[in-house]
Amino acid sequence: MPEYTLKIRRYDPQSGQAAHWEEHTVDMGAKQSVLDAILQIKDDEDGSIGIRCSCQQAICGSCGVRMNGKPGLACNTHLDEAAERGHGTGWNPPEEGQPREVIAVEPMGNMPVIRDLIVDMDAVHWKKIQRVTPWLVNKEPIPEREYIVPHENMVDVTQTMACIQCGACVSDCLSMEVDPGFIGPAALAKAYRFVGDPRDAEHHERLYDLSEDPHGIYDCTHCFNCIDACPKGVDPMSQIMRLRRRAGTDEHITDPNNGHRHEEAFTTLVRQYGLLNEAELLPRSYGGDSWFGKFHPRAARELLSSLPAITKSVVRGKVTPKLALLGHKLPKDDLAGVDKIYNEVDGHDQRVELNLYVTGYEDAPEGQPEGTSATETEEPR
Ligand code: SF4
Ligand code: SF4
Ligand code: FES
Repeated sequence: MPEYTLKIRRYDPQSGQAAHWEEHTVDMGAKQSVLDAILQIKDDEDGSIGIRCSCQQAICGSCGVRMNGKPGLACNTHLDEAAERGHGTGWNPPEEGQPREVIAVEPMGNMPVIRDLIVDMDAVHWKKIQRVTPWLVNKEPIPEREYIVPHENMVDVTQTMACIQCGACVSDCLSMEVDPGFIGPAALAKAYRFVGDPRDAEHHERLYDLSEDPHGIYDCTHCFNCIDACPKGVDPMSQIMRLRRRAGTDEHITDPNNGHRHEEAFTTLVRQYGLLNEAELLPRSYGGDSWFGKFHPRAARELLSSLPAITKSVVRGKVTPKLALLGHKLPKDDLAGVDKIYNEVDGHDQRVELNLYVTGYEDAPEGQPEGTSATETEEPR
């Protein structure tokens, strides 16, 4: 049987002592979970290790920890899988003649530690969930009989309903690390749960609120960490992008953070140049179609703050002054290909959203193997 060494981060803020690592070795099967190993260590060696857990079946969401640097559920992560994550990284350095597999277990990030592996979910995660009005606001008048929700709408929100509130996505959110005020992946995925529900009466208010908030939907930097971290396939980042499409494209909400204009600047620049013309990105994001034209005074501060980076790039030869000022453009033929893609997408009557969580067809068409295709839901463009 392989031998695993668990390096557990111990910390008790009330003790006044600094955090430290403690090592424990277990002889367990590779397919037993990290939580099994921690509980065995608690039983056999040190009952004072703090860990929160309940169901041990990846349902209650209480055993979130970081294992070799990646967040996840301890009860849903095999020992061999956790050890593998550390191979070739600083977390599990291969050492000559050392057959042990090392798994560093530490509390989730972006939340204060209560003790050892237990973090304060109330202080961050639940506070942010409360921020998005996490309940359905009924349309009036309430029907006398049950409200039948169309099947496509239920499919649309199923992915967000799978969330078990474990906080793994919050733990690894890069935007939240920089801006602790960011509403965050779990809470924004929760917000889509109601924005996508036709029974809710406050779609516009919710979208307006989340667009206006400087820590709202436009504060996400598309780092994909929440998608990697989520043990339930909720894809919080995709839900945030759907909130943006609903807010900017469907509800025409122009936010004060220039988030929607920034997105539009990306798409129009790629259509026009075939590539991202960074020289125009900021002015267009801030100026839009205002009477100031491209160089809106609001862009001045951002442009000035970008000057050191631009100067460094020019000095190091990464960017030429001509490129910095004029950008670059694809050859004519390639540009025609890009335009064709845009025309194709613009030509659709409805926007097709892929819900990759629910797969297969309810009544699989003849010859179509069940469970092989994503379910599509269509929304008005
Ligand atoms: S994609 Fe956005 S919400 Fe998700 S972890 Fe990155 S910054 Fe946070
Ligand atoms: S979205 Fe996924 S990672 Fe985030 S809290 Fe929900 S289940 Fe956990
Ligand atoms: S103990 Fe419930 S999700 Fe791990």
